Amino acid sequence: MAFLALQGGGVRAFASDAGVLAGLACAANKSVAELAGAFEATSSVSGSSWFAAELFYSPSFAELMAGMAASPSTAAAQFQENWIQPWLRATQVSQPTFDGLQSIVRLLVRLLLGTGDEDTIFIAQFFLASGLTWTHFVEVLLNSTAAIPKQLPLGAEPTMAQGRHWLVDHSLLLPVANPAAVYRGGLGLFRTSYSATTKNGELPVFLPAKFSVALGAGVHRAAPLPYLAQPQLPIEFSYQGHWPLGGSSSSSGPLVLDAANGSLGVWSGHVPVSAAAAASSAVFGAEPVDGLPAVELASLLKADVAVWAAIDGFEVADQLRAALAHPDAQKVAVLGQEAVHALIDGGYTDGTGIAQAVASGAEEVVVVLNSYSSNLAEYVAQLFPGGPVTKPGVPKELYPVFSAPSAAAVDEAFAQFRQLQIAEGSSYLKVLAVGSFEATTAKNAYFGTEEGRQVSIRIINVCSELSIGFFANFGHYSALVQEVALSLAHPKNRAELRTVLPWFAGKAAKASKALVV
Ligand SMILES: *[C@@H]1O[C@H](CO)[C@@H](O)[C@H](O)[C@H]1NC(C)=O
Ligand SMILES: *[C@@H]1O[C@H](CO)[C@@H](O)[C@H](O)[C@H]1NC(C)=O
Ligand SMILES: *[C@@H]1O[C@H](CO)[C@@H](O)[C@H](O)[C@H]1NC(C)=O
Repeated sequence: MAFLALQGGGVRAFASDAGVLAGLACAANKSVAELAGAFEATSSVSGSSWFAAELFYSPSFAELMAGMAASPSTAAAQFQENWIQPWLRATQVSQPTFDGLQSIVRLLVRLLLGTGDEDTIFIAQFFLASGLTWTHFVEVLLNSTAAIPKQLPLGAEPTMAQGRHWLVDHSLLLPVANPAAVYRGGLGLFRTSYSATTKNGELPVFLPAKFSVALGAGVHRAAPLPYLAQPQLPIEFSYQGHWPLGGSSSSSGPLVLDAANGSLGVWSGHVPVSAAAAASSAVFGAEPVDGLPAVELASLLKADVAVWAAIDGFEVADQLRAALAHPDAQKVAVLGQEAVHALIDGGYTDGTGIAQAVASGAEEVVVVLNSYSSNLAEYVAQLFPGGPVTKPGVPKELYPVFSAPSAAAVDEAFAQFRQLQIAEGSSYLKVLAVGSFEATTAKNAYFGTEEGRQVSIRIINVCSELSIGFFANFGHYSALVQEVALSLAHPKNRAELRTVLPWFAGKAAKASKALVV
């Protein structure tokens, strides 16, 4: 059976995923639930983890998806009314606060993430205008758009895809060269930071990680897949607190499994859906690392950008960090006992979700990408020999995940992809590219792939141009959902879709029989 991989990319990723699943369900004359259940597992990153969370756990969102699949020509109105508007109401962000942040956000995005596409700037602006922590931002998003309660656990009953696996891709922040701030306050007079070491050599500053759950298995079942590729590699955190006339340090001692001795990544059924989705999407999560040029700027914004984990859970980590406003040696010691550390966006290690899918056994991966305006290969090519590094500071040793083809050949394959016909009247969808190629895995200790497996990669790339800078433009995402769904559902594209996703022919591809009823 095929795996589904959903690339990160904020609300643009969300809208692309929603349009693709609604459009494919319509084209294949299947329900969205049948479609989602036909994949053995879904590997999601960042904004796509918001989508997967809502798809799998929210009855109201499942209803919205079904409505859009049944009537793609009204998808924009449905999405606007049932998703965008409730979100805007819940955040109470006003246009002046939103617009006022644009220039600082542009600079921050460029410093932290390199180029920073338009959507990242837009979502950062919105997050900062809501003025709180990243976890809270994601909780409000999931609550207001899909009525997902903040404490709903990963082990809860799903709306669809019962028994299938969900991999919530993210990264561990392991500050090795420069410590990362656990707390900064009082004009830098109160500062506590952490760093990570292992006895067995070097750690990369961003390490791939995933929460995994067999949907509907309940809160007491262990995760079906390892959280880290090297569960027995001992990781140790050290903490240094500094305050006027004092200071103190502590250590966690060696930790295994999930850098928390199993409390988060092994007993993942307890982990809140919102916390997992927040970790996966913490796009500014690298900000606490001292020495990054963005730090001073970001600290002015006073936003809390990473998701903090502790052996006794996320809320404990937040309480311990808040207590550092009045630091003492005891409070620093507890950080060590609780192994407090940051979880950040999956995009710092693999923005596409492909690597975790393949490491979890996928032989065929259907990948939904979202790009700005043109069918660029770079986030996929990063996983192949000779590939580009897509963000500043991403360690080169994380790649490649595949031994063949070369990154240049992946670029070439993308250039040969078929471009589907775009639905008439589309404003934002510029290119809808579909294509596939075969790949061979490399041995990769960080993601956990073994050498020499054959994998079919099947890509749908939604390339859209979303203009930003005005609050009201959130409606553009609703339009995008409809443009994608209508284009995929159009009979003129049926033959092209079949070549890439053979199950549309009604004839089973070897690896995806489940899609044929
Ligand atoms: C979709 O399937 C239903 C029954 O499952 C059938 O009645 C209908 O004609 C099909 N529509 C298309 C467009 O194939
Ligand atoms: C969503 O948040 C509101 C306000 O905090 C709260 O009253 C409501 O119960 C939440 N809904 C869910 C489903 O968690
Ligand atoms: C975590 O597990 C390691 C290895 O089993 C053990 O040495 C260590 O004491 C444990 N630490 C905590 C805090 O439980």
